[in-house]
Amino acid sequence: MSKLRLDKLLSHMGYGSRKEVRQLIKNGSITVNDILCRQPETVVDTQNDRVAVGQTLLIYEKYCYLMMNKPAGYLSANTDCHAPTVMDLLPEPYDRMTLFVAGRLDKDTEGLLLLTNDGQFAHNMLSPKKHVPKTYYALIDGKITADDAAAFTAGITLDDGLLCQPAQLEIITNGNPSEILLTITEGKFHQVKRMFAARGHTVLYLKRQKIGKLTLDETLSKGSIKKLTDDDLVLIGAERGV
Ligand code: URA
Repeated sequence: MSKLRLDKLLSHMGYGSRKEVRQLIKNGSITVNDILCRQPETVVDTQNDRVAVGQTLLIYEKYCYLMMNKPAGYLSANTDCHAPTVMDLLPEPYDRMTLFVAGRLDKDTEGLLLLTNDGQFAHNMLSPKKHVPKTYYALIDGKITADDAAAFTAGITLDDGLLCQPAQLEIITNGNPSEILLTITEGKFHQVKRMFAARGHTVLYLKRQKIGKLTLDETLSKGSIKKLTDDDLVLIGAERGV
């Protein structure tokens, strides 16, 4: 059984700041088990009490996990003064929740982005020790060869001397540009671009396709989101918070 103050529950569910939801409660918009409740400090049982905002019954979930098909041109940040962020793309009620990006993508990178409020899950997904693979599709200038693939398997040394863990490079087309799939188990800053730079190549286009065994839902239009199911989370393979 999990108990929570009514104002905290509503704020967690995206109905506003603690101050805003207190006002909502005092205005008489909330019922608990069909009885009007005007006391923000009321403690509710999140599994058994029925809390409604107007006619909308709330289904409480401690954590929220979203997949976004990130478009280019958006920062993986919560706010920024100069550029739009992925948070600007979130519809209600997610835009009012305190979500963050688990595993950033560069502004010009597209594809599978996860947003959550589960810090433990994000940590587990990103920790190099947990070896959650991330697969990227990329267009690379020049010809990518079997020698490049062997160098990725051996471990690429980045410009600052950092040695990357072995990565799997699959060459789809070997032309100019070349098309590849790269699977890495870390998330160093600009890692894919810097790995190819270390081999003398520039990444022309980058898209994340997979995290663990979870593949980007290609039916999601760019910038839209969907909630992840328990099965999706199992496919990612990172433990959730309790
Ligand atoms: N590697 C990069 O270089 N950029 C990304 O956005 C993700 C991985």
